[in-house]
Amino acid sequence: MSQTNEDYFTKMVISIIFYTIVAVAVVAGIMWLASIVGGTKYVAGGVKVSDAIQKEAVTIRIQALETISLVGDKKADAATPAAETKAEPVMLDGETIVKNSCLACHGTGVLNAPLIGKVEAWQPRLDANGGIDGLVSSAVAGKGAMPAKGGNPNLTAENLKAAIEFMMK
Ligand code: HEC
Repeated sequence: MSQTNEDYFTKMVISIIFYTIVAVAVVAGIMWLASIVGGTKYVAGGVKVSDAIQKEAVTIRIQALETISLVGDKKADAATPAAETKAEPVMLDGETIVKNSCLACHGTGVLNAPLIGKVEAWQPRLDANGGIDGLVSSAVAGKGAMPAKGGNPNLTAENLKAAIEFMMK
């Protein structure tokens, strides 16, 4: 190998190292900027999470510790509020309730049930009951061939109202 070839080779190696460093610096810079702009941090495992989520995760971990009670600990007898789960009543929408509980009759008109969406079948009943609340009471109690609450005792008056409003449209 001649002298010039060696020079050339050395220059190549130096420039490759140089550009590699520049490329790494640029990528690191972009990641750093992105973390500032996006308000994100790199945490263990490389998972990116926002500050808010990290704070919440910490709170949850602290709460978990608070609910731990050792044998003989007075806390064990006391109610543990963090572990308490309050069942929220599920608010079903009219369409779902109708599909589950009313469609069998009101979808077919069996036993002369007023049909879903047939305004002229519903309007006289609406008038006769003095409005939607009257129809709700009627549905709660049951009428003629229709069992109370359309046969689903789990439904509330609110559920029935949503269902009736859906069927009258
Ligand atoms: C077993 C069949 C059946 C099911 C299930 C049923 N209905 Fe009915 N429904 C009827 C029939 C039949 C009538 C007509 C009763 C009549 O006028 O004698 C009726 C009438 C009604 C009326 C009008 C009452 C009035 O005073 O005119 C409402 C409101 C009503 N249904 C709501 C519902 C709702 C809401 C559901 C579902 C949660 C439901 N129904 C499920 C058969 C059913």
